Amino acid sequence: MKFFIDSADLDAIAELADIGLVDGVTTNPSIIAKSGRDFKEVIAEICKLTDGHVSAEVVGTDAEDMIREGRILRKIADNVCVKLPLTMAGLKACNQLSSENIPTNVTLCFSANQALLAAKVGATYISPFIGRLDDITLDGMELIEDIRTIYDNFGYETEVLAASIRSVNHVKECALVGADVITAPPKVVKSLADHVLTDKGLAAFLKDWEATGQSI
Ligand code: G3P
Repeated sequence: MKFFIDSADLDAIAELADIGLVDGVTTNPSIIAKSGRDFKEVIAEICKLTDGHVSAEVVGTDAEDMIREGRILRKIADNVCVKLPLTMAGLKACNQLSSENIPTNVTLCFSANQALLAAKVGATYISPFIGRLDDITLDGMELIEDIRTIYDNFGYETEVLAASIRSVNHVKECALVGADVITAPPKVVKSLADHVLTDKGLAAFLKDWEATGQSI
């Protein structure tokens, strides 16, 4: 399973990339606004931290604007992936940009039928939002399972990119149901390594080792 980092925090992305945990990065207009940085500049800097896809989202609402913005964003770096909203206009733009071999990530997906449409227009990735479905007491993970089944039924190559991940359990469940990619904030990725018994066991090992008076 690929790990994408859902952030524009360069230090946090670089730290995880050094460990070998970054297969790509996703951003959205809210994440860019939070960074306080110039959109194109920050995307260019993120693109240097990973060879994987870096999603940069259009803000136009009609297909022509999205296509124009997508082509501009793609010129920032070879690994930019154009993120498009799951609207009819976004699907039309996805179809066009895909025909130009520009990678696409169709975002704000909340139903299996929406995901089916994204696959039909050749999206590279579909981004179902787990956390936001859970927020309204629906089952985000059930959506990931449904999309996996539908894509496998028809051999669609669009990758299932589970987004709006809020917890380590979301990551585990995505791995179990076969999401191709998860995108999560740095904090969630870091906490995947945490376990109280690991900390306790390591402390005991180090204490016993110290008592031997040896060094390696
Ligand atoms: O990748 C989409 C993600 O940024 C949305 O997450 O937590 O705002 O629902 P959240």
